[in-house]
Amino acid sequence: MSNLEELVTRAIGAFAACEEPARLEEVKAAFLGKDGELTALLKGLGKLPPEARKEAGSAINAAKSRIEAALHERREALKKSQLSAQLAAEALDVSLPGRGEAQGALHPVVRTLERIEALFASLGFAVADGPEIETDWHNFTALNTPADHPARSMHDTFYLLDEAGRVRADILLRTHTSPVQIRAMQAHTQAFAGADPMPELRVICPGRVYRVDSDATHSPMFHQVEGLWVGERVSFADLKGVIVDFLRHFFESDDLAVRFRPSFFPFTEPSAEIDVAFRHGPLAGRWLEIAGCGMVHPHVLAAGGMDARRYTGFAFGMGLDRLTMLRYGVCDLRLFFEGDLRFLAQFR
Ligand code: PHE
Repeated sequence: MSNLEELVTRAIGAFAACEEPARLEEVKAAFLGKDGELTALLKGLGKLPPEARKEAGSAINAAKSRIEAALHERREALKKSQLSAQLAAEALDVSLPGRGEAQGALHPVVRTLERIEALFASLGFAVADGPEIETDWHNFTALNTPADHPARSMHDTFYLLDEAGRVRADILLRTHTSPVQIRAMQAHTQAFAGADPMPELRVICPGRVYRVDSDATHSPMFHQVEGLWVGERVSFADLKGVIVDFLRHFFESDDLAVRFRPSFFPFTEPSAEIDVAFRHGPLAGRWLEIAGCGMVHPHVLAAGGMDARRYTGFAFGMGLDRLTMLRYGVCDLRLFFEGDLRFLAQFR
């Protein structure tokens, strides 16, 4: 029976040499298959004398069991090593540092807006709103800028088309926040109809505005904050006081020069452009235009429903993006609207 012992040893060795499950099944066939060595031995039992058959049969069967056990063991081992190879290949390195949670933040222009709202709230200004798709009447006509007024050409904007593809003459994307002056005055005079005198109207109106303009300092969409104060004795001196006070607080500096440069707007008279200059820092000594302003034109007060003989007011329109650029030292306006996280993340 030593040849049986040898057969078992050979089978175990052959199985152990198989590195692939498919190969193992081939090798198995050589021992246990239809034409396998062990099967041949079992078939040979019939040729033995009956008295030797039993002993030989059980010896062959014992060998067969050992070979089958070895086969089973090798199968399991191959399965296991295949699994661990797969696990290693698809390994997830839990010791890697996490990606971290992205921290959101307010857009720098929104931060500026919130500061401005807080500063004007401390002076008693409420916040008013108007539509970005504005009527031609609110955007121009009510602001003392009739259809043929040359000042309209300073405000080239985006018009809307009707169903037939024709440019609509009655609505447009607002070119400034000044139409909210009209809406605020109308709401105010309606709310206080019959009051004598009418309470003062003090509002700021922040929002998006649109013009056909695009370079490092102009974007087709930008932000303004309109300011309006109407009352019985509101003067240009009040305008200067409010603006200078606001700018010193906004830039957190008393070291700021502010100048009112005579200018023209159809809806204010007199009108001025507001320039600021820093005495220190990279922009020191340069005058930078940040707003237009003036005393509200009587035609505009009348369009808002106000008695222009009794009430006076001032208005201003500041460039919100320009103020943000100055406060944070940003040199290209377009950065605010490109959505580049490398830029925006700096304001976290
Ligand atoms: N609406 C003007 C502009 O966009 C600014 C302005 C507002 C001027 C209010 C005077 C008064 O240029």
